[in-house]
Amino acid sequence: MHPATLLVAAQALLQGAEAGKPGKPFECCTRLSSALPNRVFLAGSSSYLDLNSHRWSNTTILSPSCIVTPETAQEVSLVVRTLTKGSGCSFAVKSGGHNSNPRFNNIDNGVTVDLKRLNTARLSADKSYVTLGAGTNMGQAYAAVANTGYAFPGGICDGVGVGGIATGGGQSFFMPKVGWVVDNVLKYEVVIASGQVVTASKNIRPDLYKALKGGATNFGIVTKVDIAAFPHDGFWGGQLIVPATKLTNTQVLERVSNFTALNNEHVDAAIMIMGLYGHDGHRIVDIGLASTDNTSNPEVLAPFFDVGPKILNTVGHKSLVNFVHEVTQPMPDGLRVQTATLTVKNDLETLKRIQGITDSIYEQIKGQVPNLDWMFSYNPQPKVLTTHAATRGGNSLGLEGADHDSILWWLVPRWTDAASDAIVHAAVKSWVDQVQQVANELGTADPFIYNNHAAYFQKPMCGYGTETLKFLRAVSKKYDPHQVFQKLVPGGHKVSTKC
Ligand SMILES: Cc1cc2nc3c(=O)[nH]c(=O)nc-3n(C[C@H](O)[C@H](O)[C@H](O)COP(=O)(O)OP(=O)(O)OC[C@H]3O[C@@H](n4cnc5c(N)ncnc54)[C@H](O)[C@@H]3O)c2cc1C
Ligand SMILES: *[C@@H]1O[C@H](CO)[C@@H](O)[C@H](O)[C@H]1NC(C)=O
Ligand SMILES: *[C@@H]1O[C@H](CO)[C@@H](O)[C@H](O)[C@H]1NC(C)=O
Ligand SMILES: *[C@@H]1O[C@H](CO)[C@@H](O)[C@H](O)[C@H]1NC(C)=O
Repeated sequence: MHPATLLVAAQALLQGAEAGKPGKPFECCTRLSSALPNRVFLAGSSSYLDLNSHRWSNTTILSPSCIVTPETAQEVSLVVRTLTKGSGCSFAVKSGGHNSNPRFNNIDNGVTVDLKRLNTARLSADKSYVTLGAGTNMGQAYAAVANTGYAFPGGICDGVGVGGIATGGGQSFFMPKVGWVVDNVLKYEVVIASGQVVTASKNIRPDLYKALKGGATNFGIVTKVDIAAFPHDGFWGGQLIVPATKLTNTQVLERVSNFTALNNEHVDAAIMIMGLYGHDGHRIVDIGLASTDNTSNPEVLAPFFDVGPKILNTVGHKSLVNFVHEVTQPMPDGLRVQTATLTVKNDLETLKRIQGITDSIYEQIKGQVPNLDWMFSYNPQPKVLTTHAATRGGNSLGLEGADHDSILWWLVPRWTDAASDAIVHAAVKSWVDQVQQVANELGTADPFIYNNHAAYFQKPMCGYGTETLKFLRAVSKKYDPHQVFQKLVPGGHKVSTKC
């Protein structure tokens, strides 16, 4: 071996060995401040306090040593180069900040890279795609296509970030028709561990491109994405809110199960169900309905109108931006949230048993957790949605060629006091264990775990399957030879996690 090569190899080894004990956070922040003056806010400064206190979930308010807010891909590159020098510095990456897992988008004694300034959002001149900065939120992104006659798939809440959605998966009302959001990403601009700003698309670095589509925060910091747009002239849809009783819960489950099968042919229809057992004693089911081609009263959605009585009915013709704004109203930020998820085959008996588990865990803890809102959502995953990946170079969710329809459950409890964290976390863990057990027992388990909804203790990458995980690990080694995003970035579900 040439001496220079040997030296590089030795340095790499040393770096690997020391990656377990990253550099002193204060020194990291000082170095960062000299590299990027005006972009770094040290603990205690007013900008730091402002950035660190306004968060979607208060469970993500931690004590980073400093927060850096780069404005361009070149600045993100400088941040990465600075943080990976020598033994490196621990850091966290935040886009919309809607992941509630503590330490996923923030860090104690490290650097938080807040991408909020990467907020470009524009429709291309030929209207075939949108270019979105990773720190753009969905409200800003949809506003960029308002009144253009075009739309694109994205998260269904104003504050959700492009960064998380465009790397984690992305469920939307357009899902049956166009697939996951990641299936519609034409191009990523990403800063890899070396600090290089690179492009990943179907033709350029296709391995990285495919890995990013579901592989989340394992390969670099995404700075910009192009997402395919399509002609769209408004929705017909809205929310039907009904009291949640044993009867209505069952009626909704029956309709969701039937609808999911039909959704394979009726791809212009979509639903999103959210149950809410509020701290004020009210229990409701919010049935979100959408006819994405603007057809009024499609027959396939009619059964949902039989569930009643209606507390609220907002169904009508509306724009994408207004629809998403409407759905965002019941989801204020600044509370404590801990989500978890599991996917099961579309089987009514299984759905009823999961509803039972969800209800009984709520009954056990409601008296112990002040201001608890127990929220849960379950949404159709017709197998048609897995057919959209292949034409654009595949995704890494491990779903291609699914032979069954599924239902994706999302548990989203929220509360106010840190003193209740342990009780809620234990309840969420118990929900996952019990649901998994029922699905195993009934033979309706589905290994898929949506990583954007998964709790910190779940292992979504393992659910992608052995082949996919092997691929993701190989791509990680190729583009991140020193494993910066596995070792220096503790946040997020890691491909290196043992299954
Ligand atoms: C109210 C609400 C509504 C939601 N609605 C939807 C929905 O309609 N559809 C859906 O699919 N999901 C939805 N979600 C889930 C959502 O997809 C996840 O919370 C997702 O993680 C949010 O992305 P973010 O950028 O806001 O999050 P962040 O917390 O900022 O990031 C999430 C993770 O991704 C990493 N990350 C963020 N940006 C980058 C980047 N640029 N490069 C590399 N890694 C990055 C972070 O380090 C972190 O680990 C919703 C969540 C909430 C709370
Ligand atoms: C969330 O944290 C912020 C910042 O500390 C605080 O102002 C707010 O009151 C908290 N929210 C709740 C519900 O406690
Ligand atoms: C949707 O359909 C309604 C009723 O046919 C029509 O008035 C409206 O212009 C259409 N488009 C939009 C964007 O609402
Ligand atoms: C669901 O579909 C089955 C089979 O077609 C039918 O018997 C049942 O009535 C439907 N349930 C509802 C609530 O529409």
